[in-house]
Amino acid sequence: MKSIASAPGKVILFGEHFVVYGTKAILCSINKRITTTSQFLDKKIVKIKSDLGEKEIDIDSLANLDEVFPEFLRPLFHIAYDALEENSKNKGIEITLESEIPYGVGLGSSSAACVSATASVNGLFRKLTKETILKKAIEAERIIFKQTSGADSAVSVFGGLMTFDTKIGYEKLSIRNNLNLVIANSLQIHNTQEIVKQVKNFKEINKELFEKLTIKEEEIVKNAIVAIEKNDLKKLGVLMLENQYLLEQIGVSTEKLDILISEAKKSSYGAKITGAGGGGCIISLVDENNSKETISHLGKISNSFMAKIDYTGITYL
Ligand code: MEV
Repeated sequence: MKSIASAPGKVILFGEHFVVYGTKAILCSINKRITTTSQFLDKKIVKIKSDLGEKEIDIDSLANLDEVFPEFLRPLFHIAYDALEENSKNKGIEITLESEIPYGVGLGSSSAACVSATASVNGLFRKLTKETILKKAIEAERIIFKQTSGADSAVSVFGGLMTFDTKIGYEKLSIRNNLNLVIANSLQIHNTQEIVKQVKNFKEINKELFEKLTIKEEEIVKNAIVAIEKNDLKKLGVLMLENQYLLEQIGVSTEKLDILISEAKKSSYGAKITGAGGGGCIISLVDENNSKETISHLGKISNSFMAKIDYTGITYL
């Protein structure tokens, strides 16, 4: 018996980093996915196969995840161990991940991996509700990324366009507005946890400035919700550039990202970093009039592609 589940990656349209400290963010899932296939094994082991390598561990050794390397596999081993503990420890599980989402560039690959693995592994026993998948996926991700806001996992589970904050959680935006985005991948791999730690240090050293920037971010997000509802691309583009300026001030842009932004600005409505920054991707807002020009400019200096909003979220195959 196989249990297969697929979860989308995401882009953060507004509010990354500030969302960790309670500000609302706006995000959407994109049409790039991670698919996870799980099956039982007779041997009492958990085996993980992915584009990033293979690893198998005896179930009994999984009680202490601190000794599991590479570290990024810990959430996946946790998901398997948790499901076996809740259901039956008389079997092993093999988990295979296939990804269309580039890793480590701010498009939500870690969250999509945790979400699809949670659904797939638990699906061997019983299908979980979306709420439970989200709870378990965030729990798994927090094993290596304690400070995650949970926003990336929420949008991967529910799909579409939504707001997220750490108090209320996710709220779907009812508009089925198909924003057209060009994503430009700088190919600079980043470590989200490290960048989030760096921002935490910045916040501690620059308390007053961070408070001022937070107020500006809240204003940008409020205006962006209205602009999305009105499909006002010009306004949204301006707000993206304002948000980019805040991200630059908290130190998460890089020389390469600055170059991508200034190139994107020439033809699109606006552009900004998406996700943690320190490398990774930028998004630029386009429509049918300027998409070709923007992708051709950005394509000369980055890996660029068009992204559409995915409205499905987690799905069993
Ligand atoms: C990463 O995609 C988004 C951050 O805001 C971290 C988080 O919300 O967990 C940088």
